[in-house]
Amino acid sequence: MKRFFSLCLCALITISLCACGGGGTNGGNSDAKLVGVAMPNKAFQRWNQDGANMKRALEEKGYRVELQYAENDVNTQVSQIENMITKGVDILVIAAIDGAAISDVLKQAKANNIKVIAYDRLIMNSENVDYYATFDNEMVGKIQAEFLIDKLNLNGDGGPHNIEFFAGSPDDNNAVYFYKGAIETLRPYIDSGKLKVPSGQTDFAKVAINTWKSEVAQARMDNLLTAYYASGNKLDAILASNDTLAIGIIASLKNIGYNGTDRPFPIITGQDCDRPNVIALKNGEQAMSIFKDTRTLADKVVQMVDALLSGQEAEVNDTKTYDNGVKIVPTYLCAPVIVTRDNYKEILVDSGYYTEEEISK
Ligand code: BGC
Repeated sequence: MKRFFSLCLCALITISLCACGGGGTNGGNSDAKLVGVAMPNKAFQRWNQDGANMKRALEEKGYRVELQYAENDVNTQVSQIENMITKGVDILVIAAIDGAAISDVLKQAKANNIKVIAYDRLIMNSENVDYYATFDNEMVGKIQAEFLIDKLNLNGDGGPHNIEFFAGSPDDNNAVYFYKGAIETLRPYIDSGKLKVPSGQTDFAKVAINTWKSEVAQARMDNLLTAYYASGNKLDAILASNDTLAIGIIASLKNIGYNGTDRPFPIITGQDCDRPNVIALKNGEQAMSIFKDTRTLADKVVQMVDALLSGQEAEVNDTKTYDNGVKIVPTYLCAPVIVTRDNYKEILVDSGYYTEEEISK
């Protein structure tokens, strides 16, 4: 009898694994469906985590995973995707380095009947993108801007205050949305004179930082400090679209004597809750970041993979916003969350994202 029950149990487990895993049993079973996951680079903490979360979540569902990082080189990413197609992946999940540079390789995917999910970053100018899953990008910029409005008391008697802007990489479509959300929210205060931009640089093209690199942001900050703030002009706030930019900005400010005690930092924004930035939040160097729980995004994308591989439609909650130049890509938007010194414990530590030790110097 006992043996009968355990046989039934085994059969049940096998059936349920087949149902979710598209025919496979676990990561090692060559009958399991193969998911190609292409990530931009390993150098940034966020993509490391995204890749690892996606692999874990897919393998838990019984898929095999081909995960590749392209070290921010577009040609490398294109050939990685080509190799995935040759290897016979059943579906592709792609976080593009340059959203506009992979339309040719996606034609090959289409010719092989492989569905494509754009992960976090929209893939531009291609018919062959089936779905997009991301965090609400414009909302990220809006939350950053609203934080500055509040801290600078711009709706009260605060101002005029000096601010400078740092946006993301021009080849990343997200960078445009982050900046749009931020600048549109702050524009009325610039127009009314409550916010001043001593450099005069507010156009995306002027404030965009290539490849999102800390060093590039640091060099621009050095230039701004020399050109517009050397004669004692006070810099009150910096809108930085993400954490890697904030790191470069903080390094530049530290080099000229900002220390957070007798010389307090301007109010600096960020995004991603990278480890060094959470430490900077705790030390009062950076004022806020945005938490985009990559576990949530990975789970959402796995649901999409499940749906598409079983011939169903995937769940979406936005069918209007993300026009890639050829079509509007059906999208699932996850919610970004603000993190400050006051709530980081609750949001990041209590949720198990970091241990307190991981975010201590
Ligand atoms: C992501 C951000 C990230 C940036 C740089 C963007 O596409 O949405 O979370 O900070 O790339 O890696």
